[in-house]
Amino acid sequence: MYNTLHIFNHRMVILAAIFVLMTLLILYGSNNVSDGVYAPFHVATNHALVTTDLKRWTGREGYVPVSGNKNMSLRCHNCALVTSSSHVLGSGAGEEIDHTECVIRMNDAPTMGYETDVGNHTTLRVVAHSSVFRVVRKPNEFLHQTDSNPVIIFWGPPNKIGKDAKGTLYRLIQRVSMTYSNLSCFSVTPTKMRRFDNLFHTETGRDRQKSHSWLSTGWFTMVIAIEICDNIKVYGMVPSNHCSCPTTTTSPGGPDECLTYLQNESGRRGNHHRFITEKQVFARWAKQYNISFTHPKW
Ligand SMILES: *[C@@H]1O[C@H](CO)[C@@H](O)[C@H](O)[C@H]1NC(C)=O
Ligand SMILES: *[C@@H]1O[C@H](CO)[C@@H](O)[C@H](O)[C@H]1NC(C)=O
Ligand SMILES: *[C@@H]1O[C@H](CO)[C@@H](O)[C@H](O)[C@H]1NC(C)=O
Ligand SMILES: *[C@@H]1O[C@H](CO)[C@@H](O)[C@H](O)[C@H]1NC(C)=O
Ligand SMILES: *[C@@H]1O[C@H](CO)[C@@H](O)[C@H](O)[C@H]1NC(C)=O
Repeated sequence: MYNTLHIFNHRMVILAAIFVLMTLLILYGSNNVSDGVYAPFHVATNHALVTTDLKRWTGREGYVPVSGNKNMSLRCHNCALVTSSSHVLGSGAGEEIDHTECVIRMNDAPTMGYETDVGNHTTLRVVAHSSVFRVVRKPNEFLHQTDSNPVIIFWGPPNKIGKDAKGTLYRLIQRVSMTYSNLSCFSVTPTKMRRFDNLFHTETGRDRQKSHSWLSTGWFTMVIAIEICDNIKVYGMVPSNHCSCPTTTTSPGGPDECLTYLQNESGRRGNHHRFITEKQVFARWAKQYNISFTHPKW
């Protein structure tokens, strides 16, 4: 009696051990890293790089007017793409930026009070659905433009900013578009949104949704800039290896900048931005298209 019970217990222990091991393996498989520990979001290594010709990839049909029947016909020879990072502060690049044919900005990146570093012209602003409220809240800064016919492109999930979206966000965008007649407002079509996802897949070998990745406004802005500009000078974007050296964690971007980058890159649970991976792709595009980076230079 004692003996059989002992064997039974022994089996139970082994079964329990196997169960625990399997659970750990499954958990480990889905969370390659514990939260907060940096491990890069690997670009699939067996991935044969298929380069997409972004100049042909374009399609004006990808942008629909929020109101009226304007066409997205912006074309520029030279563009300045100004990021919202603090790396441009103290650069004194404002005048150079303002002398560029087209100036592209992102979300609610301010110009007022920072003119000497970022300039005060805006030709195109690319705005994420999540930044719409912040842009609308400061109409004097973002919407009352003295530049002739500046363009705003809104991107986001079709159920939020799509033509068929009946939500408050789309109505807000429509009101903006009708109120500020000097602005040309467009939203990215659902088809084009899918193409942005597919582009991420072909460029990184990772399915955007399956890899729990969010595209950043930087991704949309860079692709749109390549579509409309022959030459691009990017102000204030750090290279992909910016945070790989511990000393740069005290960079002008502030102590949190690298934390944000590294945590997003390694995040597995929930959706995350892959800022570092995106910049690796940008570095490749820089060789293919005429893109240069300044403040910092790379
Ligand atoms: C926009 O483009 C379409 C097709 O190319 C054209 O038929 C239409 O007239 C254009 N609209 C404006 C306002 O330029
Ligand atoms: C932009 O800044 C320049 C000086 O840097 C100034 O002369 C110009 O009036 C400003 N334009 C606007 C619209 O604020
Ligand atoms: C619209 O643009 C004109 C110049 O093209 C400018 O004089 C006017 O102030 C602008 N209006 C608004 C509301 O920004
Ligand atoms: C590339 O762009 C820079 C400005 O961003 C410009 O000075 C240079 O002439 C361009 N090169 C070519 C080959 O077009
Ligand atoms: C990821 O990046 C966003 C900025 O887009 C930031 O708000 C967020 O805190 C970051 N996430 C982590 C886990 O650092």
